[in-house]
Amino acid sequence: MKKLFVEDLKVGDSVFGELFAVKNYKKTATRNNRPYIDITLSDKTGLIKGKIWSDDMKNCETVEEADIVSVSATVEEFNGPQLRVTNLSKIEKYEADDFMATSNFDIEEMWKEIGQYRSKIKNNHLKKLLDNIFDDKFTKRYKESAAAFVVHHAYRGGIQEHVLDMLAMADGVLKRYPKLNADLLITGIIVHDIGKVFDYETGTTITMTFEGRMLGHIFMGAEYVKSHAPKDMPQDLLDEVLHMILSHHGTLEFGSPVPPKTAEAVALSYLDYASFKINPAYNTIQKSEEGVQFTEYNRHLGVEFYRSPYLDELTNEDIPF
Ligand SMILES: [Fe+2]
Ligand SMILES: [Fe+2]
Repeated sequence: MKKLFVEDLKVGDSVFGELFAVKNYKKTATRNNRPYIDITLSDKTGLIKGKIWSDDMKNCETVEEADIVSVSATVEEFNGPQLRVTNLSKIEKYEADDFMATSNFDIEEMWKEIGQYRSKIKNNHLKKLLDNIFDDKFTKRYKESAAAFVVHHAYRGGIQEHVLDMLAMADGVLKRYPKLNADLLITGIIVHDIGKVFDYETGTTITMTFEGRMLGHIFMGAEYVKSHAPKDMPQDLLDEVLHMILSHHGTLEFGSPVPPKTAEAVALSYLDYASFKINPAYNTIQKSEEGVQFTEYNRHLGVEFYRSPYLDELTNEDIPF
């Protein structure tokens, strides 16, 4: 059983034989050619970077991403807490739930909710397209997948949570813009990050696959959707769905090969952005300790969030967690 979690580690602490998942492991060298290992360790509460210096390498086994390891280390200050690992060995027996964070929402309940949105789609080609994509095997993977490596929804069930964020916000957009094509927008939201199912391996930690690194989720998603299109689906309708996948990062500099060119694609890319930004802000603040004024600096978002003292006045009994 794990006793100490990443979120508990403070500069100056010593860690003896604590278990973590290996998220990243890379042999490298200093400018003077002194070898060392860059390592990132994780558990369900977060991740922490570390170094194994050449003197300590003899006490450290060579390991791979997603291995569970027993670690002895000291916590040092280097742009926040970082581990200086002095002992590391691979272990085979552990509680899987200690390592992989899971969405606060129930995986099956979220899938039911996505199903309710699917049942609103009237266009038969789009319905059939989703039926072709979501066979039992793929559905199982989609339900469990994380939506990102670290930044947002980086936990089991993350894609579903991210998609439901966007679907709920789309309800509001559709109310204000009633002539948007709701069928296309709902379909697009459900499939926009489908490539992430192949991008990441969601096991003891989230790791990137070879094809994820080489091809990226935008291409893989578009390809998967295209290859599951019903034979009689009009090409221009399929192209509108593919366009929403390809343009969902909004601009070329953020990795989309085309900018959004339909109102549905514009809406989708902003809903994606809103969910991507709100999720880490919300979770970081919720996880912070009562009484702190600012949370720890979030490197990926470039901010420390303010924890409002008025937050704890909220007593809404409908909030399930
Ligand atoms: Fe994406
Ligand atoms: Fe997304």
